[in-house]
Amino acid sequence: MRPRALAAVFALTLATTLPAGAADTLRDLARKADLHFGTAVDVEALDSDPAYARLLAREFNLVTPENALKFSVVQPERGRFDFTRADALVAFAEAHAMRVNGHVLVWDQQLPDWLTQGHFSPDELRAILHEHIRTLVTRYRGRVASWDVAAEAVGEDGKPRDTFWSRGIGPDYLALAFRWAHEADPQARLRYNDYGGEGAGAKSDGIYTLVADLRTRRVPIDAVGLQMHVSLSDAPRAGDVRINMKRLAALGLQTDITEMDVMLPLPASRAALRKQAVLYGGMLQACLAVPQCRSVSTWGASDRHSWIPAFFPGQGAALLFDADGRAKPAYFGVRRILRSAKAGKH
Ligand code: XIL
Repeated sequence: MRPRALAAVFALTLATTLPAGAADTLRDLARKADLHFGTAVDVEALDSDPAYARLLAREFNLVTPENALKFSVVQPERGRFDFTRADALVAFAEAHAMRVNGHVLVWDQQLPDWLTQGHFSPDELRAILHEHIRTLVTRYRGRVASWDVAAEAVGEDGKPRDTFWSRGIGPDYLALAFRWAHEADPQARLRYNDYGGEGAGAKSDGIYTLVADLRTRRVPIDAVGLQMHVSLSDAPRAGDVRINMKRLAALGLQTDITEMDVMLPLPASRAALRKQAVLYGGMLQACLAVPQCRSVSTWGASDRHSWIPAFFPGQGAALLFDADGRAKPAYFGVRRILRSAKAGKH
């Protein structure tokens, strides 16, 4: 390769490795647009992968533990709570002036066997769930700003899903969970979080009906999380996402994009990476267009720590940074949109 070409390649590599100027990070630009920019965190990798920890601290001002607060991790045996990993993440967040989102109190996945195979009566299950919520939310009172109180309680058809908790406690389990969380930390922002209902359709309508009912009954819910696990061929229209956020806002609810990733067939082509950038940008613009949309989070920072390849074989490259922590086209697209967002739009 001729020296000039070599120099150009080197400059390009540098440019993609080091986003220009500290003030141009996602977290700083998001703050100027009155938004938080977040990511899920693999807490174990915080220790084992210093470059990952540096990337998180540099670019994000909101973190969600990817697994550390899930039921089976945090209460592996009845009444024995293990906060080792969650504590480590909260300390990391405090050291880097990040907000923390607690994830997740009432979900029917990643539940421990002692719970799912315990044959508990409805009263016992209520007591177990109350104790679980009280213990987690009280421990982090004032330190975890928002909680995913309940998740994935609505089916594809828009009807309430039959879950471990709905079967065990009855349909009131959701209202109870929000009330118990509110009692434990009256300042915490309480959220319902789901996937596949971000835009238009039966599921989105079902989520709307569910949270509207909770609002009518004065259940303390503050926000709806739109997960946004999407692919190039299966994603909602950004315009529909904006409309959905607006109708939720009309109920008095804030919104967040909580778990965005855009999976690509591997190896990812340059064309696919460009389309991915467009999709990320469109969803960010939807959020920026609605004052009640308060944050955008991706479900992981770099492709090195992403759930996609394990859960969707043959797919990956879903996040803003590649496996070596280099910024991808989606990162630059998101940054450009944040930069041009009007300050103080919220
Ligand atoms: C995923 C984690 O990323 C994986 O590490 C874990 O094995 C399974 O759960 N929706 C959610 C997240 O709300 O909690 C899920 O996280 C991804 C889908």
